[in-house]
Formats: sequence, structure tokens, C-alpha cells
Amino acid sequence: MERAKQVELLSECLGLVQAKRPFVTEDETLIPVAQYIDEGMFEQERALLRRSMNIVAQSSQLASPGDFMTRDILGTPVLLVRHVDGTAKAFVNVCRHRGATVELRDAGNCRRFVCPYHAWSYGTDGSLATVRYAEGFPTLDIENTSLVALPCFEAAGLLWVCPEPSRSDWAPDDATRELIRELEGLGCADSSVFTADTKVWNANWKLIVDGGLEAYHFRIAHRNTIAGFFPDNVSTFELLGDHVRSVLPRTSILELAQQPESSWDIREHTHVLYSIAPNASLLLQERHFELILSTPISVDQTRIELMTVAPDPGPDGFSEKAKGFLAANSAFTRKTLEEDFEIAEQIQSGMRTGANEHFRFASFEGALTQWHRRLNEKLGRV
Ligand code: FES
Ligand SMILES: [Fe+2]
Repeated sequence: MERAKQVELLSECLGLVQAKRPFVTEDETLIPVAQYIDEGMFEQERALLRRSMNIVAQSSQLASPGDFMTRDILGTPVLLVRHVDGTAKAFVNVCRHRGATVELRDAGNCRRFVCPYHAWSYGTDGSLATVRYAEGFPTLDIENTSLVALPCFEAAGLLWVCPEPSRSDWAPDDATRELIRELEGLGCADSSVFTADTKVWNANWKLIVDGGLEAYHFRIAHRNTIAGFFPDNVSTFELLGDHVRSVLPRTSILELAQQPESSWDIREHTHVLYSIAPNASLLLQERHFELILSTPISVDQTRIELMTVAPDPGPDGFSEKAKGFLAANSAFTRKTLEEDFEIAEQIQSGMRTGANEHFRFASFEGALTQWHRRLNEKLGRV
């Protein structure tokens, strides 16, 4: 992030923390609870996500040629692989013979993918490499019977995939390009996953996003974890196209009033949360970041993958000291995020009681209002 931008964002936060004021940008707004429980609305959202590029992995998970991973992305079984030329590729993980799942393992390394049914094999570029008893398929055009390719894009150490093959014309818009430049400037491209885990939570995917878009709850919901590090109810935000950059100042930001602007460092005194459309979050901390990938399963279930990502450790891997630091930070961040996800589950379980027809977003929860407004505009719900 450019120095001038860091100073601008830090000045804005410092002023609010000094004045003990929240960041007010909107009128209070109401959002229908139906948007979190209605099956028809969920299917609309899922269709939108299926037409979108979704962040599905971090580049270091496919570090070497032949490294692969398999994932269900919004109902499509996907095979992600690092080809020998270094590019990341994504394919529908379905055999072109009679439709068996080609690769069953979660992750691994190989030069050829061999279908477990009749052993047709495919290269890391998806091409059909071998067919046993090929003479039995006189009309088979081997050259044009590759695994079905999916749009796949890699930047800032992140892998984006769209589960719809028809979106092969996708290219990042200006705002996404700008976001990528910013993340690369923050070192995200030269990073490796330290630890990752996945769990299904019983909450609508938007509740997971909502939890990252306001700091009103910090002092209360996170009283046993991060509350003491943050001033009450102060966070700023800026829309970057479909994405949001939220800045969460730490109480230590007050020290900056005594320091020259030339020494200000946004990572030292804030957490920066990027809500990357449609459903990923990147929480930038002082020396590492947390990547949160939320994949809707049903209207009230979301698969959440959490990854702690740190600067590349080099060929020898993370030092013992780095491992200790990252393990402690990762555990603390997970504990904090689980406080959010547990509340999301409670909210979801109470929605069908009819206690609320609407939820309220305050004048100082403008990021929530704007994020939902943008989503609803895309869905034609205005
Ligand atoms: S279904 Fe894959 S080889 Fe037959
Ligand atoms: Fe939270």
C-alpha cells in the first residue's frame, strides 16, 4: 500500500480514536431477515457466486509442478493443478469417458491423473494422455477430449476459479486489479500457508461476511480475546469496486500522534480486513495474514476454510521461532473468529422464530449497508 494511502487511512482512524467517535457514513438501514433464510433468494445468490471468480486456494498450496488439490466449489468438483510450465489450471474433476471422478485425493503431486474406473489418463494441462484399448473408440477425438477447463486466475498469491466453464472470457476489472496491486505491495504474493483447516458452520454465508464488516461488537462479543487491543466501535472502510477495505485501528494508534508521519506503518497499528468479492476475507495483521474462504453449501450452512499465511520462509521452511509465533497467533485468531461464527450460528437458529422481520444496520455500520446494497443491486433486488 502506498505511503500516502497508509497515512490517509491512519490519520482518519487516529482522528476518530482521539475523538472517541465512530465512523458514520449512512442512515440507519433495515435488511429483511428473509434474505438469510429464503431458499429462492439463496439459489439466486448461489447462481451469482457460480458465475463469479471465487478465491479457492493460496498459491503455496500448489508450490511445485504436479502439485494438485481437489475441492467442491459451489457444487462443481474441481481439480486444481500446477502445470509444468508453472501456471495454475483448474478442471472439472469428471472423466470424459463415462464420468467417474478422476482424482479422489484431497491433495498430492503427480504427472498424470489416472481415472480409477478404466484408467484413462490426463496430463497436468488436462489433455487426454492415454486410453486403454483405444481401437475400441474409433470416433474418439483424443486431441479434443481433454478435462473440461475452468477459468483460473492467479495473482497476489491467491487462486481464483469460476465453476462455470462458460466464463472463460473473465478478466479482473479495474478495481480488482487495483486491489491485487495493493495486496502484492503488502507482500501477499510472496507468502506461504502455515496452517489451514476447514469446518462447516450452520450459518448463512452472508452472516460470515457481516461479522467482518463492523467493529461495534468487538468490546462485547470478543471480550475474552481481542477487545482490549481495539478502541470501542471504531472502524473505517472504503469500497473498492465489489470489494471492501476495512481498517480496524488498535488502541496503540494513539502513539502516532507523537511520531512523524514518515514513520507510520499501517500494519503496526491496525488490522486491515479485505472483504474480497464474492466470499473471501483477508485479515492483514502485523506480520502475517489470515485468509477466510466461505463457500455456501445451503441457505443455512457454510464451509469455512481458515488459513494462516506468512511471508515465504525460504527453502528450509519456517524456523522454530517463527513456528512458535505463528502457532500462537493462529490459535488466537481462530479463537476470535470462532466467537464470530458461533454467534452467526445462534443468529441463524433464531431467524425462523419470526422475532425479527428485519435486522438493523446502524449509521456507523456503513460497510454492512453498502456491501448488502451492492449485492442486492447485482441480484436485481432493489
Ligand atoms: S470413466 Fe474414467 S476411464 Fe472410464
Ligand atoms: Fe468479530
